[in-house]
Amino acid sequence: MSTHIAAQAGEIAPTVLMPGDPLRAKFIAENFLEDAKLYNSVRNAFGYTGTYKGQPISVQASGMGIPSISIYANELMRDYDVQNLIRVGTAGGMSPDIHVRDIVIGMGASTDSGIIQTTFGAGLYYAPIANYELLSSAVETAKEKGLNYHVGNVLSADRFYNEEIDNVKLVDYGVMAVEMEMAALYMLAAKYNRRALGILSISDHLVTGEATTAQERETGLGQMIELALDSVVKTL
Ligand code: HPA
Repeated sequence: MSTHIAAQAGEIAPTVLMPGDPLRAKFIAENFLEDAKLYNSVRNAFGYTGTYKGQPISVQASGMGIPSISIYANELMRDYDVQNLIRVGTAGGMSPDIHVRDIVIGMGASTDSGIIQTTFGAGLYYAPIANYELLSSAVETAKEKGLNYHVGNVLSADRFYNEEIDNVKLVDYGVMAVEMEMAALYMLAAKYNRRALGILSISDHLVTGEATTAQERETGLGQMIELALDSVVKTL
């Protein structure tokens, strides 16, 4: 047991997929894992462990935003010795080169959150980055699968509704898409010396207003989940 996760020691696999939405965790467990068993329902933040291609894999809902994912990532690494954490989520496209249903693999995660300053102090601008082994395996696997994918800088925003942020400037500086969790996952994984990666499916576009239907979102999510699972098992 940890503060927010009710699993016993050994019930969580060393590799964990982290969607934001608890119902997506359930969907992944039921549709992509074999013999998945629920280990957590505290706060309905569902967590399951099963197998994928013979490897033990867990899926743990992170909730939305940096404070929420930080709670689950900290406890997974500190209390359950989790080694590989892969965020699978949706993001809003920012760059005109990104389209809905595309996949964005986060090489780095910029953020307007206070986590960098409250961790390192004012004046130090730590760069949260992906684990290179997981990143390169995901890129290789995305290529093999013929997916429409992009690799680069993502914005982990503190606010979903933010009229003050300069999206044009961020795009000029190479930011591809916006979500709300990746920077914390990358920074905490570095702290614990574990491996983390974020793989995103573009659900909407901030500039063009492009949006996905529920059906298209499901297809996009399936591609992202298979990419996450197939690429991480190659590294185990
Ligand atoms: N902003 C933040 N997170 C998101 C968005 C967005 O527009 N779309 C999907 N996740």
